[in-house]
Amino acid sequence: MTVLGIDTSCDDTSVSVIKNGRVLSNVVFSQIEHSKYGGVIPELASRDHIRNILPVTQKALKEANVSLHKIEGVGVTYGPGLVGSLLIGISFAKSISLALEIPFIGINHLEAHIFSLFIERKINSPLIVLITSGGHTELILMESEGKYQVFGSTLDDACGEAFDKVAGMLGFPYPGGKEIEKLAEKGRGDAIEFPRAKLNGYDFSFSGLKTAVLYYIRKNPPSKKDIPDIAASFQEASIDSLIIPTLMLSEKLDIRTIGVCGGVARNKRLREKLKERAKECRIVFPSPQFCTDNGAMVARCAEFHLERGEFSPLSLKADPSLILPT
Ligand SMILES: Nc1ncnc2c1ncn2[C@@H]1O[C@H](COP(=O)(O)OP(=O)(O)OP(=O)(O)O)[C@@H](O)[C@H]1O
Ligand SMILES: [Mg+2]
Repeated sequence: MTVLGIDTSCDDTSVSVIKNGRVLSNVVFSQIEHSKYGGVIPELASRDHIRNILPVTQKALKEANVSLHKIEGVGVTYGPGLVGSLLIGISFAKSISLALEIPFIGINHLEAHIFSLFIERKINSPLIVLITSGGHTELILMESEGKYQVFGSTLDDACGEAFDKVAGMLGFPYPGGKEIEKLAEKGRGDAIEFPRAKLNGYDFSFSGLKTAVLYYIRKNPPSKKDIPDIAASFQEASIDSLIIPTLMLSEKLDIRTIGVCGGVARNKRLREKLKERAKECRIVFPSPQFCTDNGAMVARCAEFHLERGEFSPLSLKADPSLILPT
């Protein structure tokens, strides 16, 4: 089955073609103009999606060497995300579905992040999934494909959001996760003892850590040589805050397969530390291009639903606060 996957949930316009589970193309156009504002400006993002959606789709088809008429189903993110951005992808996907008379399927962006784990490999269920992205931090039990139970969520900021905010405090543009990682490579993770949130259960919290970094910087205005230690110590604290509840859940449920997805899953220190701390577990991370928003994870998830005969009506609306179906 040849499937087109579209994601316009935030600021990246992403389109992918997959055939029988194999990624033939995965084109991501990242809007960089938001960096100067320190975050995504929704109105600018949706206008950019309008400009980009057609050329990005044409590029994805060309790279896949597939003509539009060979597409057998179209999947698109319908939430969660920015409503104006979601609308562009949804309207575009519906028009393709109508014109080609092929199935249309609305995809939950969080489920698409989970399916990024299955793009490059098969994983047997049950498994524990940690989604750690710019807008979400969720700890999930996936009993079988399509069957989820959420055990923990962030009570405040998402982990990626904390990376972006701390990068901003240190004078780096949005999104700053990648920059923190680069700086941290030159610093010491044990230089400053930032707090790790201690919560009951499997929830996460990053606002206390973010505030601790802010107060530290105010009290000790850093010179250029101090910045790598601050970045590394913050990174270490955030990674511990992700790893502790994840391993607790793995232990409690006696499930030794753990998948980590979402933009923060690109972080090399997180990859290394989780593998180090859970030697008895099978730890799976998608390749970096499938961690941050991309069309391939949407296409892969759409293929799964299409194979089960699950389509969406053309009356489907954008749902900015959609949650994972449990
Ligand atoms: N190497 C890295 N280390 C840490 N964080 C990173 C790294 N690379 C990217 N990120 C963070 O990942 C986030 C973007 O990820 P993603 O595209 O999955 O999120 P999103 O789509 O904005 O949010 P959501 O999926 O929750 O709607 C940003 O916060 C970014 O700083
Ligand atoms: Mg995302």
